[in-house]
Amino acid sequence: MTDYIFKAGNPLLAPILLLHSTGGDEHQLLPIAERIAPGHPVLSIRGRVNDNGINRYFKLRHAGGFTQDNFDLDSLALESQWLADEILVLAEKYSLDATRFIAIGYSNGANIALYMTLKGIFNFDKVIALHGMQLTEINHPVSTDNKRIFLTYASNDPIVSERNFNALIQNLETASCQNEIFNCTYGHQLTEDELVAAKKWLEIY
Ligand code: MLT
Repeated sequence: MTDYIFKAGNPLLAPILLLHSTGGDEHQLLPIAERIAPGHPVLSIRGRVNDNGINRYFKLRHAGGFTQDNFDLDSLALESQWLADEILVLAEKYSLDATRFIAIGYSNGANIALYMTLKGIFNFDKVIALHGMQLTEINHPVSTDNKRIFLTYASNDPIVSERNFNALIQNLETASCQNEIFNCTYGHQLTEDELVAAKKWLEIY
């Protein structure tokens, strides 16, 4: 069974897909969607990996440690495909235009949205990636035809290193994404100013 929430909105507006952080759930980002994209229909899907009560979108190889060598890439491939299939099933169920999805992901949720984009597993129209990182080096990312991506990053983030974030941006550039980066003052947590910036970005594009 898939745990999700669907919130109807103005059917003329693009649907939002919410992807929570490690330990979050389908409720976590609902207030964030309301801040960034008020009135849009919202689909929020919980990651189906449950690590001792902690929800995620893919497994870690060992407990703790958000580093590239600890990400289970087999689980990542499997769960990305599962998520893509679920999005399509639920889009059909609620009559959402699957070609217009704007993914809003935080941390673990941002990471899987970016991975799915770079691997061509799901074609989000836009991605808002809050405190995302590169999960693995992708040698031949798919060309995304100038897809717009909004990313937030903090230089003192204890999880996302500058080196990792730069590698992510390089991957996205190779995939012809048009990236807008918002620099945050605090670490991995969400801040008011990045939500305001994300909303402004979405109003422009
Ligand atoms: C997280 O806190 O979830 C990290 O961003 C890394 C991950 O995706 O596991």
